[in-house]
Amino acid sequence: MKGMNSFLVTLSLLALISTLASASDPSSLQDFCVALNGTKHSRFVNGKFCKDPKLVTADDFFFSVRSRVTPANVDQIPGLNTLGISLVRIDYAPNFGLNPPHTYPRATEILVVTKGKLYVGFMTSNPDNRLFTKVLKTGDVFVFPVSLIHFQFNIGKTNAIALAGLSSQNPGVIIIANAVFGSKPPINSDVFTKAFKLDKEVVEYLQTQILIPMKGVQHFLVVFSLLILGFTLASASDPSPLQDFCVALNSTKHAGIFVNGKLCKDPKLATADDFFFSGLDKPGNTSNAVGSKVTPVNVDQIPGLNTLGISLVRIDYAPNGGQNPPHTHPRATEILVVTKGTLYVGFVTSNPNNRLFTKVLKTGDVFVFPVGLIHFQFNIEKTNAIAFAGLSSQNPGVITIANAVFGSNPAINSEVLAKAFKLDKKMVEYLQTQF
Ligand SMILES: *[C@@H]1O[C@H](CO)[C@@H](O)[C@H](O)[C@H]1NC(C)=O
Ligand SMILES: *[C@@H]1O[C@H](CO)[C@@H](O)[C@H](O)[C@H]1NC(C)=O
Ligand SMILES: *[C@@H]1O[C@H](CO)[C@@H](O)[C@H](O)[C@H]1NC(C)=O
Repeated sequence: MKGMNSFLVTLSLLALISTLASASDPSSLQDFCVALNGTKHSRFVNGKFCKDPKLVTADDFFFSVRSRVTPANVDQIPGLNTLGISLVRIDYAPNFGLNPPHTYPRATEILVVTKGKLYVGFMTSNPDNRLFTKVLKTGDVFVFPVSLIHFQFNIGKTNAIALAGLSSQNPGVIIIANAVFGSKPPINSDVFTKAFKLDKEVVEYLQTQILIPMKGVQHFLVVFSLLILGFTLASASDPSPLQDFCVALNSTKHAGIFVNGKLCKDPKLATADDFFFSGLDKPGNTSNAVGSKVTPVNVDQIPGLNTLGISLVRIDYAPNGGQNPPHTHPRATEILVVTKGTLYVGFVTSNPNNRLFTKVLKTGDVFVFPVGLIHFQFNIEKTNAIAFAGLSSQNPGVITIANAVFGSNPAINSEVLAKAFKLDKKMVEYLQTQF
């Protein structure tokens, strides 16, 4: 963008940020706000109208991707409204299936390859426009920071599959070639001759190509709901970054300095490996008391996730009752996809209703656990089960209810717990020895 005064732009941006809420999805103002799929409201809100919470069912948080039919721009999970996260499955044809250069204007993407081999990359903003690339194999994870132009390219001879979490319920997609050369009405070709330093004939040729085909790619945008309210209040979700990225510094020499997140590395020293993690193809060891293992991929594993508001986990469940016991993520909504097996899952709403929503999930099924609510997953099959989940924070945190209540350090006075749980004090003391 030659000749543009980016200094002014930066200044006004900073001014905006100091007074306004963050640009990430606002936090919900209730347990959930399941989107109403009605056409009778001609009013517009930043998001969708909520269904009466009493009419909400577990199916509002559920979607199945077993079907290979690509749903086109449908709101698959109304329960995601206001929850700030979504999931996508991307299929790539063998031999150079391409997800062409595109951006998500409202989301950072964290992608895990579940099959095949991809060449991926993203470009930073002006003036550097640095390209970060990486070859990803099955189990590898890569981060595409919010709004930066990025792509994936299948360099294997077989098809490839990836699952990705996106830090917005409605990330939007801008495919660069289509937006630039295929806008309706077309952008004046004189604009392009200057912007792209091309002959007018070349530009006009490109404009006739309009929709550059997305060779061999099918997007399963498993979401789409907008957000709501929150224009005046600061959001409780992770704040949006003030730069392309802020790769976390892994240094101990700043002991005693605390920031909301982590200190940033000099951006010039950032490399593709700062956005990369390998090993999600490996099963977690479920030989433990609860029969499950969570393998996290958050800012501690990928320093490039710092300030980007999203993370990923793989969860393995032992056969016959392996469970991820009741817990909450204080800073994140979770969107989970089962890739193997059958899980019984559920969450409980807050007081006074404490309603339980449950569902049996099979391979390809997707379920949402709203931010902060207590939830669980339970393997009801004789074989092991596997799930991947996106979480709407770089550091979602976990509170395992039983451990926090009965295993706190130091212990909560047993009289307090006896009264709270209507239990005998002896029983409480016994429970306290168990955690
Ligand atoms: C919402 O309405 C549209 C159009 O009426 C329909 O195609 C879509 O399936 C509905 N979505 C849900 C989740 O019910
Ligand atoms: C950060 O430092 C800790 C301790 O020095 C180390 O265990 C960890 O692997 C480092 N993390 C990264 C991403 O380099
Ligand atoms: C899994 O964990 C158990 C208990 O800690 C241990 O005995 C076993 O060797 C581990 N298995 C593998 C494959 O690491």
